[in-house]
Amino acid sequence: MQLAKWAHDLAESLLAESLPTRWAHSQRVYSQALTLAPALGEDAVLLAAAAIAHDVGYARAAVETGQHMIDGARYLRDVVGADPRLCSVVAFHTSSPWEASELGLSEILAEFGPAEPALVDAIT
Ligand SMILES: [Fe+2]
Repeated sequence: MQLAKWAHDLAESLLAESLPTRWAHSQRVYSQALTLAPALGEDAVLLAAAAIAHDVGYARAAVETGQHMIDGARYLRDVVGADPRLCSVVAFHTSSPWEASELGLSEILAEFGPAEPALVDAIT
């Protein structure tokens, strides 16, 4: 669970004070992710880390394109050097491919692909 603890501390530092509602949401998603752990095997820790960090793209330090999934993934990859699979799950969570298409950001999103459907479904 070292990865999840690291992601928790990072997300807390980025969201808790400035975006408390977003932080509370992230904590609820994290709790839900833990309930899926038995179905994910070795990827349970990765899902937990992605769950707590999935919305760091809303943090002021991360905002770049305005598409928070991409911004979060870029922050995780470029600023803190996160695991590429963690960056990918964050990049593709929820409606990211459709939103990226609408915003002309599909090429940037593709930097984080290919998406892992089982993990994207789990985080969504
Ligand atoms: Fe999100």
